[in-house]
Formats: sequence, structure tokens, C-alpha cells
Amino acid sequence: MAEYTIKVRRFQPESGEGPYWEQFEVDLDPSLSVLDGLLQAKDKEDGSLAVRCSCRAAICGSCGMKVNGQSTLGCKTQIGEAQEQADKMVGATGVSAAVADSPIRGEGSDLGSAGNPIVIEPMGNMPVIKDLITDMESTHWTKIRRVTPWLLPHGEPPEREYVVDPESMIDITQSMACIQCGACVSSCLSMEADPDFIGPAALAKAYRFVGDPRDAETQERLHDLAEDPHGIYDCTHCFSCIDACPKGVAPMDQIMRLRRKAGEEGIEDPNAGHAHEMAFVKVIEKKGLLDEALLVQESYAPGVKGKLKPSKRGLTETIKSLPTILRPLRKRKVKLRQAIPGLHHGLPKDEMNDVKSIYKHAEEHNEEFNLYIKGEEGELAEDDVEKGIERSTEPAGQEADSGQ
Ligand code: SF4
Ligand code: SF4
Ligand code: FES
Repeated sequence: MAEYTIKVRRFQPESGEGPYWEQFEVDLDPSLSVLDGLLQAKDKEDGSLAVRCSCRAAICGSCGMKVNGQSTLGCKTQIGEAQEQADKMVGATGVSAAVADSPIRGEGSDLGSAGNPIVIEPMGNMPVIKDLITDMESTHWTKIRRVTPWLLPHGEPPEREYVVDPESMIDITQSMACIQCGACVSSCLSMEADPDFIGPAALAKAYRFVGDPRDAETQERLHDLAEDPHGIYDCTHCFSCIDACPKGVAPMDQIMRLRRKAGEEGIEDPNAGHAHEMAFVKVIEKKGLLDEALLVQESYAPGVKGKLKPSKRGLTETIKSLPTILRPLRKRKVKLRQAIPGLHHGLPKDEMNDVKSIYKHAEEHNEEFNLYIKGEEGELAEDDVEKGIERSTEPAGQEADSGQ
């Protein structure tokens, strides 16, 4: 057993007062969870401390909260590890994760008797109802419903169940592992700037149906998510949701898959993101180095057709990008030949062979990396496949979950 100080951000609306911090001393084994610490404080010190929980096993998704500033599940975070993290933060920055914008009740000083406090707050990007309980309806569930989270198959339903090839479901197993805890929503930087952004959890859920071979409205879904100004192109690719997700869903990766599929469908991307990605791949394949001027040209006027008959948008965007090219030229940060598309030198021939072999390897192994496929490629013997032994679709190192 060890003693810990937990510092909880509290808000009790019935009191009519603003939020404040309160410290509790708890005594428990380091392998137990932050949620266990909170429940002990509630049991022994203050029964009014509000925290939502149910399974205590990282399955139900109820106990989303911030621990030392990081959105996570209280029941999945060991209190001993949270203490180490709190000590590291204070050691590195001199301050704890708690912002000093609210008064502290309980202990007089920030340093509790058990050392640096473990800072616990309600999830971000959501209104707080009471203490650690947030309003998930307005910011999470409304957005989940927004993406039509059910199958939309066409035609008469089969007499019995739909039969699908297991391989065709591998791509969506990662998004199916979501337990709807909201940790990714809590940590999303885009949502802070644009509360209307559909958000990581709902877009991961959208991919679950876009990638499902039984769904017949893939195109409609992609148009809807791409044309919504708060849709898939609102994500700034910041990785926060990947860090926060306790189930390895990697919502940002699902958003990138949606973008790629939208690009393949020829859906216009207001930021030319898909065309930019394609141009990047093409330029590196050709030269092995980044020819930025060529990259801009290929992003807005791709291929021979794009140059012979540029679109109105392509012309406008190319003209708009001119200051970006001219500024470093004026400041002599780039040479003239680097500012003219195609003149930038490439890698020597022998090094280009290495680049080509990377592309060849990528083409031959074009299955997307999926955390939910266990083991290395080739591990499964061919006769195993013939015998019907399938690759596990359970996340490596993680327990089975609700599979919503
Ligand atoms: S990667 Fe995108 S969706 Fe994920 S937290 Fe960042 S902005 Fe939000
Ligand atoms: S994607 Fe991950 S973090 Fe987001 S709601 Fe689902 S399980 Fe929670
Ligand atoms: S109580 Fe933490 S996920 Fe269920």
C-alpha cells in the first residue's frame, strides 16, 4: 500500500459557486487505478464527489477523465504510474498539470503529504454537469447520431444473416473496438477551435460503416462527410486522439482513411489534401527528393491534362500559392532553379534504385497497417489458411471489448 494525494477539479452547481480544486489523501496499492483512488475518497471522505463509472475494467467507457492533463479512462490508469507521471511533470516544468485558476480546498498547500498531487479533471470540450461528470449527450452522442451509425444496405434483407468474407472486415475491426468513452473528443484540438467539428469518435464510427462491405451508401456517406465544412477536412492531423484513445482505435487514422476514400471517389477536397498527397507520392517516386515547386504544380494541375487544361480552381490556387514561393526567393532562402517546377535536382541513380525498391515493396504490400491484425506477415502458414485458421482480429496486448 502507498499514500497518494489526488487533486480533483470539482464543480457543484447546486452550491452556486464556481469550480475549485480539492485534495484527498488515499491509501492503496500502486497497481490499483486512479478510479479506485477516487472511489476511496468518495467512500471515506466525501460522498458528494461525483464520478461516473460502471465496469472498472476499460470496457463500458463510462469513466473518461483527464489524469495529469491527459484524457484517458480512470479505471485503466494505474495510480502508481499516474504518480510517476505527476512527479516527472513537476520535475520537468516545476508545475503540476493543475491550472491555478481556481481556489484549492482541503490541504493548504499544493504539495500533499504524499508528494506531488495526481491531478484529475473532467474531460475537455464538454460541459461539466458535476465534478468529473460531463454532458456527453451534447458533444458526443449528438455527433455519433450525425454520422448515421447503422448499416444502410440496399435490397431485400437476406433470409438469414449477411455472410461476409472475414478478410473484408479486417479493415474496420479497429474502428469497431471503440467503447464510446469520449477521451478522443476531450483531447481534440480542432474541436476546441471549432465545437461544430464532427470529431474523432463520430468520424471513426463513420469509417466503421463506410468500410463495411454490407453498406450500400458509401458514396452518399463520403459526400456528406466531405462536404460538411465541419467534416473530415476539419481535422488538423494533430495525433492527440491517437494518444488519448484507450482502445487503440486511432481515430485520426480512420479520418485519413475516409479522406483517402473520398479522394478515390473524386470528391472535391476544399484543401486539395488528396491531390496534394498523390502529388507528394509522385514527386518522391520521380526524384527521391522533394521538389516543392513541382509539388505545388502537381497538387493543383496534376499530370499533362491538368497542365493543358487547368481547372479554374487549379489556376486560382496556383496563383494564391505564388507569394509562398516568392517570399523565400526574395529572402534568398531558395535559389531560382528551386522555385521553377521540375528544375530541382533529384537523387543520384544508385540512390534512386533504393527509392524505387521502397515503392515496389509498398505496392506489393498495399494492405494498410492495422493494429488489430496480430503477428507478422507470413506468420500464418498456407496450410493453416486452407484449414480455415484465421488471423486474430483482437488487438494485440488488449483485452476483448464490447465490439460496438
Ligand atoms: S488528429 Fe484530428 S480528430 Fe484527432 S485530435 Fe487532432 S484534430 Fe482532432
Ligand atoms: S475512439 Fe477511442 S477514445 Fe474515442 S470514444 Fe472510441 S474508444 Fe474512446
Ligand atoms: S468504469 Fe472505466 S471503462 Fe468502465
